Amino acid sequence: MNKLRDAQNTVIVVEHNDDVIKASDYILELGPGAGKFGGEIIASGSLNDRICNPKSVTAKFLKSNGKKIEKVRRKPREYLEINEAQLHNLKNISVKIPTGIFVAVTGVSGSGKSTLINDVFTREYADKVTFIDHSPVGSNPRGSIATYSEVFESIRELFAKENKVNKSLFSFNSKGACPECNGLGYKKIDMHFMADVKISCETCGGKKFNQEVLNYKYKGKDINEVLTMTIAEAASFFKHQDIDKRINMLKEIGLDYLELGQTLDTLSGGESQRLKLASKLHKKNEFYVMDEPTSGLHFADIEKLLKLIDKLVDQGNSVLVIEHSLDVIGHADWVIDLGPEGGDQGGQIVGEGTPEDISKIKNSYTGQFLKK
Ligand SMILES: Nc1ncnc2c1ncn2[C@@H]1O[C@H](COP(=O)(O)OP(=O)(O)OP(=O)(O)O)[C@@H](O)[C@H]1O
Ligand SMILES: [Mg+2]
Ligand SMILES: [Zn+2]
Repeated sequence: MNKLRDAQNTVIVVEHNDDVIKASDYILELGPGAGKFGGEIIASGSLNDRICNPKSVTAKFLKSNGKKIEKVRRKPREYLEINEAQLHNLKNISVKIPTGIFVAVTGVSGSGKSTLINDVFTREYADKVTFIDHSPVGSNPRGSIATYSEVFESIRELFAKENKVNKSLFSFNSKGACPECNGLGYKKIDMHFMADVKISCETCGGKKFNQEVLNYKYKGKDINEVLTMTIAEAASFFKHQDIDKRINMLKEIGLDYLELGQTLDTLSGGESQRLKLASKLHKKNEFYVMDEPTSGLHFADIEKLLKLIDKLVDQGNSVLVIEHSLDVIGHADWVIDLGPEGGDQGGQIVGEGTPEDISKIKNSYTGQFLKK
């Protein structure tokens, strides 16, 4: 990128990575929060101008860099063994994967991380391990935060009971749905060479339900008003044990700004992944694997993800991530470093141990960066 700039080009990147941000000449920061709480220009200018703005989340994280935090590492419960793996570039390696703790698998690009974990480990232990990817949550265009977190069922029951009508009236694929858009709230316009454009349905104004259904109220609100509440607003609205429990969980993972009815196909990659993880929070004794879960996440979001991972592990689950982010690697209880290089020069175990152990290994790139 520096080469491109020095040749009189202009390069604009959308970025979360602090090294890239520090190397740029001019920064435009959007925020301050996410979703409803974002959308404003928080700061613009060089890194130094921006650092002065107390509202800037990015500045806060760039400043706190280099702060050393002593961390207590958890002890493994047991081990799942991989023996003599030699797929792709792996050099006949055997490794013990600890359970009950937070494990990071590291190494340069092409060193064999995904091969070892996604192709060898998760297949050998298919009955014990759950892989969580970045893909969107579900493909149903009517799926929303409310349906995915399973609060919609209870909400429909509350409306039905309050108004003494059938609960199915409050679903988008029943006769309660707007007949014009079939409960989607929008119509798609085919733009030939471009992506389809969605325009709000004229009949229901995007409310998705027919007028009869919208006349039924619960605590003074109709079903559309309830579905357009944010998680934060909904948290104090229902006073219903099961709904509150699930909504609080969404709040804890930092999705408080999303609307209950926001459809899953509109969530960002990071939001989708956190939602998937959160749906596992009631489980115990599970082993979750993620390949580069922080790619595309801002430092502030990485913190939220780490909190969620800690919670899962503290409840008795195991979490293994393949990672490049030093913030995440430094937070892990155990690191398995592959390399030393990519491709045929990789595929070996360079080190295994706590981040402190890895930082003492001379030929480990991860170790040298951790040391810094
Ligand atoms: N299906 C395949 N057939 C042949 N070689 C493969 C295959 N998949 C991966 N490789 C090679 O094996 C090596 C390890 O790849 P792998 O995807 O495991 O790397 P990685 O450590 O996950 O890298 P990254 O950080 O870039 O994701 C690479 O040299 C890659 O080109
Ligand atoms: Mg990979
Ligand atoms: Zn409609």
